[in-house]
Amino acid sequence: MKVGIVGLGSYVPERVVTNADLEKVLDTTDEWIRTRSGIIERRFAREDQATSDLAKIAAERALKDANLSPYDIDLIIVGTNSPDMLYPATACLVQDKIGAKNAAAFDLQAGCPGWIYAATVGAQFIKSGMYKNILVIGAEVITRMMDSTDRGTYVLFGDGAGATVLSTVENGGFISSELYADGSLAQYLTLPAGGSRKPFSEEVLKERTYFTKMDGQEVFKFSVREISRISKKVLDKANVPLESVDWFIPHQANLRIIKAGAQKLGIPMEKVVVTIDKFGNSSAASIPVALDKIYREGKLKNSDKVLMVSFGAGMTSGAIIMEWSK
Ligand code: UT7
Repeated sequence: MKVGIVGLGSYVPERVVTNADLEKVLDTTDEWIRTRSGIIERRFAREDQATSDLAKIAAERALKDANLSPYDIDLIIVGTNSPDMLYPATACLVQDKIGAKNAAAFDLQAGCPGWIYAATVGAQFIKSGMYKNILVIGAEVITRMMDSTDRGTYVLFGDGAGATVLSTVENGGFISSELYADGSLAQYLTLPAGGSRKPFSEEVLKERTYFTKMDGQEVFKFSVREISRISKKVLDKANVPLESVDWFIPHQANLRIIKAGAQKLGIPMEKVVVTIDKFGNSSAASIPVALDKIYREGKLKNSDKVLMVSFGAGMTSGAIIMEWSK
């Protein structure tokens, strides 16, 4: 049985925040941000928007694209690192917002590879025969998890949501997936407070540990290594030669990581999808948003081979190789 994407949709908030805007509030420069990260602008959600609101819009677009009703959905999985609240799951809020009355719902937290992990998990439910149509969403209002006084993180992130409907397909679809985690590196990218380890307190407020803490250089090294390692692994497993990959969609964290990773893997930049200049790092949303972008632009052709790879908090990484057919 083959499983693939039968519907695709995304949403990024309308508010554009440029590097010049950030220069006004932080000790940073447009030049530093551009040369160190490749980011020119990013999107910030409106104050009244939370992750489920962005996910709802992307999900409705994906359902329309799949020509399915919300009642046809059996399961919703939201990959996110910025849920509306600690519980209930954002997926349950999305289920209610889109009226998917027949769907079970849960969140999957796997750092930036959240959508890769969730799509891999969703595909197993279909292969096992348990469910037919699954909404897999990567959605974030991750900018709310960032400290507006920390120039090392605040300038890098943006909000967005990408949604995919998975179902059985006659041709193409997912060829293979690979998932990886190394929890011994957890400290390099973490939001330390607000959970059971460090509940909210005056100390937490003072330390600002309710915001993301990142060791940028360690994350950088892990990311470049993982892009090539896990991509090679998934291609080997699928028996797909690197040369036959038509589109390479890496997680959009830093243009330097993307270029170094693509070079290490041996894939030319013409095949690499880049959105970081416009959207920054939207964490678990970055891959489905980038996929939807090339789909809407009419660039994805039937039987194109698409390699998607991501890395992030955990530390985790994940890759999917698929053949596009829709
Ligand atoms: O989604 C997955 C998670 N994230 C990532 O994958 C991010 C991975 N890491 C990175 O992308 C890069 O490490 C960063 C973009 C975060 C930083 O780039 P870098 O080349 O590793 O810079 P750095 O951390 O070594 O900092 C160099 C300098 C420092 O100043 P000093 O100590 O040399 O005087 C920083 O304080 O740049 C300074 N700096 C800034 N300057 C202006 C850090 N952030 C800024 C800033 N504006 N926004």
